[in-house]
Amino acid sequence: MTQQFPNEDFQITNAAPELEVRGLSLWYGDKQALKDVSFDLHSNELLAFIGPSGCGKSTALKCLNRMHDHTRDVRIEGDILFRQRDAYAPEVDPPEYRRHFGWVAQKPNPFPASIYRNVAYGAQIHGLTRTKAELDAHVESCLRRAHLWDEVKDGLNKLQGTDLSGGQQQRLCVARALSTQPDILLMDEPTGSIDPIATAKVEELMMSLKQDHAVVVITHSMMEARRLADRVAYFHLGELLEIGPTEQMFTAAQSPEAKAFIAGKFG
Ligand SMILES: Nc1ncnc2c1ncn2[C@@H]1O[C@H](COP(=O)(O)OP(=O)(O)OP(=O)(O)O)[C@@H](O)[C@H]1O
Ligand SMILES: [Mg+2]
Repeated sequence: MTQQFPNEDFQITNAAPELEVRGLSLWYGDKQALKDVSFDLHSNELLAFIGPSGCGKSTALKCLNRMHDHTRDVRIEGDILFRQRDAYAPEVDPPEYRRHFGWVAQKPNPFPASIYRNVAYGAQIHGLTRTKAELDAHVESCLRRAHLWDEVKDGLNKLQGTDLSGGQQQRLCVARALSTQPDILLMDEPTGSIDPIATAKVEELMMSLKQDHAVVVITHSMMEARRLADRVAYFHLGELLEIGPTEQMFTAAQSPEAKAFIAGKFG
């Protein structure tokens, strides 16, 4: 398997960011989980969120695609601009907004349905294809981009998503996430529960996805963050303490907390 490395020449261009997060704070009831978080996400960028357990990484990720909309007792302050438009403006339709985001969770969670249905569903509910032939082509394209097509093409309707191995299920979940033609992929520890060989495949997949998408990935593996990310954001007790190019964060982090975490001293 060819190992691709993050683009060390990654430069933030003058183009407007895909996402601009400004002064984001979030409370679960009276407990504050995010404190004044600000960052940008650029197209074709892979941004890794790192930091100790419970410091707000998943909470921050879920704000980006409005996944907290239905969580009780959540209060959010601050701004999220998707392509320079307020994600929480009253005229925004949440399901249509969420279509721009693909979500991949830590534990592979395919629907209890055929492989075909798992991938077709997102395109169908958003009316992205008109004919059966178009839908077939779309399903194939998503499975190919998820590097899974060759392994499942003979069992698309025979096999259930849950019949696959853990690593295959995770790639199926990526194919499903691609089905709505998202611009941004959000991945919450996507390699957290799969074995090293499956991890290598999913990592390779992430590198190829950022050619057409902005990707935010949460990881507890410092090696993975260093291998994959263009930039790294370090969260600590609900704050985004530091964000910077990956090599700079790994060799010359400014904050003592980020330095210690990256060196494996706590977390
Ligand atoms: N639905 C919820 N209701 C109340 N508190 C919550 C909820 N979800 C998360 N929290 C709390 O918010 C804080 C941040 O949690 P979050 O899941 O964002 O952390 P994390 O950085 O993703 O941690 P981990 O690395 O363990 O996944 C924690 O104290 C957590 O207990
Ligand atoms: Mg988490």
